Amino acid sequence: MTSTPRKIIIDTDPGQDDAVAILLALASPEFEVLGITTVAGNVPLPLTSRNACLVRELAGRPDVPVFAGCDAPLARPLVTAEHVHGKTGLDGPEWWEPETAPEAQHAVDFLIETVRAHEPGEITFCTLGPLTNIATALQRAPDIAPRIRQLVMMGGAYFEVGNITPAAEFNIFVDPEAAAVVLAAGIPLTMLPLDVTHKALVTRARNDAFRALGNRTGRHVAEMTDFFERFDKEKYGSDGAPLHDPTVIAWLLAPELFSGREINVEIELAGTWTTGMTVADWWGVTDRPKNALFIGDVDADGFFRLLTERLARLP
Ligand code: BDR
Ligand code: CA
Repeated sequence: MTSTPRKIIIDTDPGQDDAVAILLALASPEFEVLGITTVAGNVPLPLTSRNACLVRELAGRPDVPVFAGCDAPLARPLVTAEHVHGKTGLDGPEWWEPETAPEAQHAVDFLIETVRAHEPGEITFCTLGPLTNIATALQRAPDIAPRIRQLVMMGGAYFEVGNITPAAEFNIFVDPEAAAVVLAAGIPLTMLPLDVTHKALVTRARNDAFRALGNRTGRHVAEMTDFFERFDKEKYGSDGAPLHDPTVIAWLLAPELFSGREINVEIELAGTWTTGMTVADWWGVTDRPKNALFIGDVDADGFFRLLTERLARLP
């Protein structure tokens, strides 16, 4: 464990799996979570902002500020995923009315100000949803790009291709123009695509382990998973749902659980059938510059051991 916690900002569209990622970060002393910025994605912005407030309350961390960001992609109408996450985005457990509300400041202003207020190389962005807030910040304040230590995103797919269309993963598909801006920004970047998250399935035994923790967080996580796994089980006929977004936080905590390649990744912006596809040069067949560490595999048992052990630390 490093003695100085890594300063991170979590950009997110909760979403049950976003919620678990936020909980994992808040349970981990390796991080100082400077803020949670919300974006429209799984559900519209008012709900993702509300959900971020609920999740910090669940973690007993109402002090972590939440900032609401962009309510629509850069250049397209918003596509949401209630068919996966339910009408609230956090369907499953019984939630309370949030006791906290987002800050007045816009998420994009918070991102820009925070990066400028820190030394270069201090801030890591963890992105769990469409990249609209990050791209808007980079377009408005290009000076922040070289100051960002790292950007770790859940997004994209190559061998697994798509989950929202046959060719595209949801976070990239919702705002492909934003993803293209981020990939071109020169920020050290790690991508956790569906190729990884589809290897991190919440089997019955893994979900029972969350439930058996005996704390409120464990119960909520198990009940959220019970809800969203019905969709993936039906779709993929798999043992359980992939837990996408926590892989971002887990990669930062324990990169030895993952393997991948430094490659070039481009975003398809104008495909007839493939808009939002992450065209990943996994086999190195072009000389396009490498712009991402594209993760391909995970030790799923190790990942779930880490997650379960950390969730046990929360209320
Ligand atoms: C991604 O899309 C969302 O539905 C999930 O929260 C995750 O971030 C997976 O494609
Ligand atoms: Ca998400």
